[in-house]
Amino acid sequence: MSQQDGPKSPTSSASRVAVKPISMTRTKAKSTKSNQGLATLVGEDVSAWFGQRKVLDRINLTMQPGKVTALIGPSGCGKSTFLRVLNRMHELVPSASMAGKVLLDGTDIYDPTKRVTEARRDIGMVFQKPNPFPAMSIYENVIAGLKLTSVKKSKSELDDIVEESLIKAGLWKEVHDRLDSPGGGLSGGQQQRLCIARSLSVRPRVLLMDEPCSALDPTSTFRIEETILELAHEVTIVIVTHNMQQAARVSDQCVFFLAEAGTPGVIVEQGDTTKIFQNPDDPRTQDYVTGRFG
Ligand SMILES: Nc1ncnc2c1ncn2[C@@H]1O[C@H](COP(=O)(O)OP(=O)(O)OP(=O)(O)O)[C@@H](O)[C@H]1O
Ligand SMILES: [Mg+2]
Repeated sequence: MSQQDGPKSPTSSASRVAVKPISMTRTKAKSTKSNQGLATLVGEDVSAWFGQRKVLDRINLTMQPGKVTALIGPSGCGKSTFLRVLNRMHELVPSASMAGKVLLDGTDIYDPTKRVTEARRDIGMVFQKPNPFPAMSIYENVIAGLKLTSVKKSKSELDDIVEESLIKAGLWKEVHDRLDSPGGGLSGGQQQRLCIARSLSVRPRVLLMDEPCSALDPTSTFRIEETILELAHEVTIVIVTHNMQQAARVSDQCVFFLAEAGTPGVIVEQGDTTKIFQNPDDPRTQDYVTGRFG
C-alpha cells in the first residue's frame, strides 16, 4: 500500500521548511459551532505491534469533534500505524496486533459486537497517493464506497449523493459536466479530491488523511487544504503530514510522535497548534517543528 512505501527521507524539503507565523493560518473550524452530530474519536492506551515488534506504546489522544488534528513526527514513528488502528485497517496486516481502545463517541470500535465494516464506514481514510479506479467514471468512483455498504439507493438519491460529495470535496465545479469521463483522466490534485468525495459519499463521521498532499503540486495542495478547512465544520479530521507549514495552516490541534533509538512510537507532546509551533514544552518538539531534526 502506498503509505507503506519504503521510508521517506526525513530530510525532505517539506520538513525542512521554516515554519511561518501562525498569522498565515486561514479560517479554521469554529469552536463556537454546535457540535451536535460531530464525532469525538478517542484513542485510549493504544499500543500496536507487527509480529513481536512493538511500534506504538500507549497512545492516548482525543480527536475533538469538528476539529482538525495533525499528527507530525519523523519517518517510522508510527503515525500511519496509528491512523490504521483508528479505522481497523491495522488488522488487515497478518502479523499485526493492537491493544487499547478506540472510542467513537464513547463506543469502542473494537467491541466484538461491532462490525468492521461499520467502523470503516464511520471512519473514512484518504491515502498518500490518490487511488481512484482509473477506468471507472467520475460518477461511479464517487459511489464506489456506497456499493460496498449494500444499501440500495435510487438513481436520484445517487445523483444527489454524487453532487453533494463532489461539492464538499471542492471538485463539483470542475467536473459537473463530465461525470461520465474516467476518473483516471483527472489531474493528480483532482484525483485526490475525487478520493475525498468517494470517502465522503458514505457520510463518515471522521476522515483520516495520511499525507494527502505529498504527491501534489503547491496549487493542488492549497486546494486540498481549503477543502479540509471547509470539511472540518462537519467531519472530524485527522491528518498526517511532514509539511510543518501545512500542519500550522490546517490544524487546530497538533500531536508530535517520536520513536527514539529503536523504541516504540510515543506521543511526546500534544496541544493547540499555535502552542506546539510557537511555545512547545518539550525541546524535542521545538527541534522538530523548526527543522533541526527529523
Ligand atoms: N506492514 C508492516 N509490517 C511490518 N512493520 C511495519 C509495517 N508497516 C509499518 N511497519 C513498521 O512500523 C513502524 C511504524 O511505521 P509507520 O508506517 O506507522 O510510520 P510513519 O510514522 O507513518 O512513517 P512515515 O512518516 O515514513 O510514513 C516502522 O518501524 C515500520 O517499519
Ligand atoms: Mg506514514
